[in-house]
Amino acid sequence: MAELKLSETRDLTRIERIGAHSHIRGLGLDDALEARKVSQGMVGQTSARKAAGVILEMIKEGKIAGRAVLLAGQPGTGKTAIAMGMAKSLGEETPFAMMAGSEIFSLDMSKTEALTQAFRKAIGVRIKEETEIIEGEVVEIQIDRPATSGAAAKTGKLTLKTTEMETVYDLGSKMIEGLSKEKVQSGDVIAIDKASGKITKLGRSFARSRDYDAMGPQTKFVQCPDGELQKRKEVVHCVTLHEIDVINSRTQGFLALFTGDTGEIRSEVREQIDSKVAEWREEGKAEIVPGVLFIDEVHMLDIECFSFLNRALENDMAPILVVATNRGITKIRGTNYKSPHGIPIDLLDRLLIISTQPYTEDEMRQILDIRCEEEDVGMSDEAKELLTKIGFETSLRYAIHLITAAALACQKRKGKLVEIVDVSRAYQLFVDIKRSTQFLIEYQEQFMFNEVPGEIEEDTMVE
Ligand SMILES: Nc1ncnc2c1ncn2[C@@H]1O[C@H](COP(=O)(O)OP(=O)(O)OP(=O)(O)O)[C@@H](O)[C@H]1O
Ligand SMILES: [Mg+2]
Repeated sequence: MAELKLSETRDLTRIERIGAHSHIRGLGLDDALEARKVSQGMVGQTSARKAAGVILEMIKEGKIAGRAVLLAGQPGTGKTAIAMGMAKSLGEETPFAMMAGSEIFSLDMSKTEALTQAFRKAIGVRIKEETEIIEGEVVEIQIDRPATSGAAAKTGKLTLKTTEMETVYDLGSKMIEGLSKEKVQSGDVIAIDKASGKITKLGRSFARSRDYDAMGPQTKFVQCPDGELQKRKEVVHCVTLHEIDVINSRTQGFLALFTGDTGEIRSEVREQIDSKVAEWREEGKAEIVPGVLFIDEVHMLDIECFSFLNRALENDMAPILVVATNRGITKIRGTNYKSPHGIPIDLLDRLLIISTQPYTEDEMRQILDIRCEEEDVGMSDEAKELLTKIGFETSLRYAIHLITAAALACQKRKGKLVEIVDVSRAYQLFVDIKRSTQFLIEYQEQFMFNEVPGEIEEDTMVE
């Protein structure tokens, strides 16, 4: 592996999913890191949000490495939401990797490999590269149509100029394709990456600003470049260590990044990459950007995983680890010992703990309001009132789920606005935990494997 393949990594885009937390657009803090009551989709939970903001600030300043934070609180109090808010406020360049504790057991790789991959997904590398580009204003594009149609490849000529010079370049079929894909015309200012042949349209030359025809209002005008046509430019791109791992692992390759089917990556590959990255860092070509690794439902990890985490946090490239749990004092998986949150004391000792509190009725109403908007559901005030009551009596999550169900009920009766009848219809159709448990107690003999119902929630943090 003489050269790391980077060009392929450059074209990666990250895919975002919509879901339970799609309304969260940040932590909703002001400049002084105080939590605004309602902002960026976030409601209440002010001290936890503020604490998360302080951690973010430390991450941005690069002050802490290998630190870990625990979000602890009852189910549905916004732990996962706060982690998503942190992810949204981090910015493009800082990696945020997320996994659920239980994923460790469902992957066809060892637990430590899965955790190693997760850690490396959360470590970014900013790589500076010098590339040669050709930048100029298009004077003319001339494409020769071959006499026998279709048979021979197209050829052509491209004339580019700067304020000082003009040159004619020969075009191959690949470049012609690129030019027509970008819809390049004479008068455009373009940049061509010499190594990859990638064409970027920078805008229209000011000299052409008087040709009104065939120009949209969004047309961007730029100066005709000066100096030489060929230039050296410094470009910076950010990739994660995991992306470099996968692309350079011989058995995998580029596509594995999309399928997630990366399998185990050999440790020699990682060692080579680490030493290459270390080399780049010494030469000033690369910088490490520690990101965030978020492990939700951390109580699902077992004692081996916890000891791996202890060690991994001591690595000097370690990201910030954020974990969340809703468990109280419970068994550490893989042992017979009990511990707060199901996390061993030695790891707990390294964690900064942020606790989340149950919501007031008012906060719940605001969260439900935001969710209605997010799901594009119009609901009358009285129906919202009822939904809030239901949420307060049962759980916030249950009430959130009822929004969709009530909207469907409303659609069915061809209504425009979700009314009380729709909410109560949904409430009757889908039972919440309390009613379901009640039902179980009444009819326990008829179910398989029934035990004493009181044990169901023995160790979650319920008041
Ligand atoms: N402060 C908040 N502002 C806006 N939406 C919130 C807030 N807190 C929670 N939510 C929303 O309520 C729902 C439940 O919250 P979330 O999933 O974050 O709870 P959790 O603490 O992770 O619960 P669990 O312990 O069960 O995992 C989510 O859809 C979440 O986006
Ligand atoms: Mg959660």
